[in-house]
Amino acid sequence: QASYLPKLKFKPGRLPAKQSQPRASAFKVAVLGAAGGIGQPLGLLIKMSPLVSHLNLYDIANVKGVAADLSHCNTPSQVIGFTGASELANCLRGVDVVVIPAGVPRKPGMTREDLFNINASIVKTLVEAVANNCPDAFIHIVSNPVNSTVPIAAEVLKQKGVYDPKKLFGVTTLDVVRANTFVSRKKNLRLVDVDVPVIGGHSGITILPLLSKIKPFVVFTDEEVSELTLKVQNGGTEVVEAKAGAGSATLSMAYAAARFVESSLRALDGDSDVYECAFVQSDLTDLPFFASRVKLGRNGIEAFMSADLLNLTNYEAKALEALKPELKASIEKGMAFAQK
Ligand code: NAD
Ligand code: LMR
Repeated sequence: QASYLPKLKFKPGRLPAKQSQPRASAFKVAVLGAAGGIGQPLGLLIKMSPLVSHLNLYDIANVKGVAADLSHCNTPSQVIGFTGASELANCLRGVDVVVIPAGVPRKPGMTREDLFNINASIVKTLVEAVANNCPDAFIHIVSNPVNSTVPIAAEVLKQKGVYDPKKLFGVTTLDVVRANTFVSRKKNLRLVDVDVPVIGGHSGITILPLLSKIKPFVVFTDEEVSELTLKVQNGGTEVVEAKAGAGSATLSMAYAAARFVESSLRALDGDSDVYECAFVQSDLTDLPFFASRVKLGRNGIEAFMSADLLNLTNYEAKALEALKPELKASIEKGMAFAQK
């Protein structure tokens, strides 16, 4: 079951006698961009994970207060704040999972592509530091445009000689979270049962929910397919417009990123039943990067759920072909930027 359910072992008023024992599985997680709209609630959700021993928070500003605040929660992980380039290496050393939500968010009227000029350099610099200090870590890229920032990260890691395509992920979990929410509402299903794979990329028509592959099996009319697909594709823009200049999705994104962190930690911990969608280097199509469901294990991606792409409906097959030119252009733009 691919759902993020925080294991809240720390019930208010109970002395955590047993829980204070260190677990054998104790992982270090770093969040880069930790003082931001996503970074802060994401830090809180990661602080709740019993699998985390150290939570390192990095930002160019205001992160010491966030770290001091979070550090008072009586869950086991130790929280430390790191500010500025001089503290980045210390933040990253020995880390198992690095999440990168650093960068600027959209305002109404902007596309994710419009963020490229600022966020491409931010991601490039941060991934260089990851390559230098924790090259074996799982790397979760949240910063937009994900369709370009992940290829940038891949190129940087290649240049540093430490690229492991099984451990680099563009976080598309929010698309799955949205698809599950919208479909279960529409069809009156129990949320916990619903799992919609979302493939392609993370922008506009490149986001393709595969409603024919939903669990549990559900029949949709053509109108429902088209309405739900558009609603998932437009989810980010809906939030950007509702926030009216105050940014993009932060709380649902933190929830989604925390789910992906928790899945990664469970995989690192030896759980053999961990599946998530992510935008990764892939042979499933003729594109070098593609979002699909993957099985996660101790060494990152263990398998691609290629069966999801078989027997697509006409609608899905057409949408898959239609998304390829835009996704290809975004991938190439990212690669070209990093190769400059
Ligand atoms: P925000 O502006 O609230 O926070 C960004 C944080 O990044 C700030 O605290 C800022 O100081 C920090 N930052 C900037 N440059 C940095 C650097 N060089 N090193 C470290 N930190 C740096 O923005 P937000 O709402 O948290 O969004 C962050 C990014 O996540 C945006 O690019 C947004 O588009 C993206 N996003 C992605 C998804 C997704 O599904 N993948 C969803 C929502 C948002
Ligand atoms: C989202 O899907 O919410 C994010 O990619 C942020 C955005 O700009 O829409």
